[in-house]
Amino acid sequence: MAQSNIDEKTIEELKQIMARYPQPRSALMPMLHLVQSVDGVVSQRGIEVIAELVGITEAQVQGVSTFYTQYLKHPGGKHHIGVCSTSLCAVMGGDALYDRISKRLGVDEGTTEDGMFTLERVECNAACDFAPVIMVNWEFMDNMTPEKADKLLDDLEAGRPVKPTRGATITSWRDNERLLAGFYDGKADEGVSAGEASLAGVEIARENNWSAPKGEAK
Ligand code: FES
Repeated sequence: MAQSNIDEKTIEELKQIMARYPQPRSALMPMLHLVQSVDGVVSQRGIEVIAELVGITEAQVQGVSTFYTQYLKHPGGKHHIGVCSTSLCAVMGGDALYDRISKRLGVDEGTTEDGMFTLERVECNAACDFAPVIMVNWEFMDNMTPEKADKLLDDLEAGRPVKPTRGATITSWRDNERLLAGFYDGKADEGVSAGEASLAGVEIARENNWSAPKGEAK
């Protein structure tokens, strides 16, 4: 069995997550994210610990972790690269971007041997107005091109700081997993929060002095 890094501190943090919910079972998903941040995968040890803390079976924990694609069965790399493969991104160049990145990294839906990258096709990220989109550790890289994708991988490989189009500076997939477990990194206000395309309607309304009709009290 693979080595686990889950220690007393992790168990304490898993309990903190549980304490946020009226029912311990409701904490399952953020608890799984914390396990991934510590072990880089939904480890067997993580499943055992969660099952015991929550008071459910290991099979029930596995049932949740295998249903959602964000939970990995094999250890993830330092950076998770998700290329949107849903229709709009795909026809706008997403499929070609995936093929290019896959060829460069030598993996197809998997993790590179050096543990630097995990490459996956991902479904629509609700960022279709910026197609084609690549997610790095679930941060948006909008309006991607082959050249931008090459530079992105060059920078990540070299450890140079990478700022997503919207969101905070990219650190690592594990850091993001900790954030998804609900441990705030203090960077919510860093970077751009909404892109130009999303704000176009607001700008037009402003120029024309339009406003939403007021609802009538009933
Ligand atoms: S189709 Fe790619 S973000 Fe919607």
